Amino acid sequence: MGHKTWLILVIFTCLIASSCGRELQAKHKDNFAVYNHTLATILVEYASAVYMSDLTELFTWTCERCDGLTKGFEVIELVVDIQNCLQAFVGVAKDLNAIVIAFRGTQEHSLQNWVEDLFWKQLDLNYPGMPDAMVHHGFYTAYHNTTIRPGILHAVKKAKEFYGDLEIMVTGHSMGGAMASFCALDLTVNHEAKNVQVMTFGQPRIGNAAFTSYYSKLVPNTIRVTNDHDIVPHLPPYYSYFPQKTYHHFPREVWLYNLGLGSLVYRVEKVCDGSGEDPACSRSVTGNSIADHLNYYGVDLMCQQWRSCRIVMDPRVAEYGETDHKGNIVLSRDPAIVDLKMNSQSNEGGVTSST
Ligand SMILES: *[C@@H]1O[C@H](CO)[C@@H](O)[C@H](O)[C@H]1NC(C)=O
Ligand SMILES: *[C@@H]1O[C@H](CO)[C@@H](O)[C@H](O)[C@H]1NC(C)=O
Repeated sequence: MGHKTWLILVIFTCLIASSCGRELQAKHKDNFAVYNHTLATILVEYASAVYMSDLTELFTWTCERCDGLTKGFEVIELVVDIQNCLQAFVGVAKDLNAIVIAFRGTQEHSLQNWVEDLFWKQLDLNYPGMPDAMVHHGFYTAYHNTTIRPGILHAVKKAKEFYGDLEIMVTGHSMGGAMASFCALDLTVNHEAKNVQVMTFGQPRIGNAAFTSYYSKLVPNTIRVTNDHDIVPHLPPYYSYFPQKTYHHFPREVWLYNLGLGSLVYRVEKVCDGSGEDPACSRSVTGNSIADHLNYYGVDLMCQQWRSCRIVMDPRVAEYGETDHKGNIVLSRDPAIVDLKMNSQSNEGGVTSST
């Protein structure tokens, strides 16, 4: 190694050491989440898998993305809200000793359009039971007012009955991160869950400062990962000169970015301050990248093809499923049944449906 390399390494070690020191002090003062890199690399794989459109492979955890660090995961419920184009699953990760809940991000023809719309999202709903707390109606209803919520709650109850009081880890990317936050809050406030952890990737802002302050007291164990110039965490916009009226992120942000020059580029994972709007984290750069939105920790976070709400389902999973009159699907299994009987019948004749 050359002289320069060493020098940069030394500088880096110091930077990392000093930020760690600050972090430890901060941890004593407030009770926020501690960032765990290993856990982040696992949860991002769940957030990626939930984008898969083959429901059979997802339900049986045999999809292309259902491998690696998530191997052995047991899906308990897979919920697809066809009308609103939403998808989520609940299952048990024995290696984490946790129930994992993952929400898919938006699945529209154009991510560009969705992102442009985010600029104009109003704070247009009072969060029930929390004076002055306002949130975005669309994000709130995506979780609260669709088939997603009853499906998730049912599965969490079933998992707890069978496995006892496991930790609950909620994750999601983009709009899926917004839904994950509302879900964690719901479980804590309305369902007496005490050990809910949240880790989201590239999520937008969802509420105002009053909402943020309730949220972070109720679900302190939350990490919000942002990636370099990812545009979505910058939206809907934060206006520092309108503190009461503006959207405001909750803590704790962890900002991933590259530092260095030329061939000496290092990945930094910066644990940000407890404000939720640390000016030295993602806010220190312009949010101008969609590419940075679609890949976290080297993992792809998008559908393989941009298509409107496409699903693929095999007749063999039909016996685990219920479809309501609007076409919404819930695939559900009894946690006591270890082997899904998927291999006994022919593999022909998959059903493809799309809206
Ligand atoms: C980080 O998470 C991993 C995976 O859950 C766990 O094995 C490890 O003990 C955690 N590390 C710390 C320091 O908590
Ligand atoms: C939820 O949906 C119902 C029926 O579509 C609607 O009447 C109600 O206003 C919605 N609630 C919220 C908070 O949007």
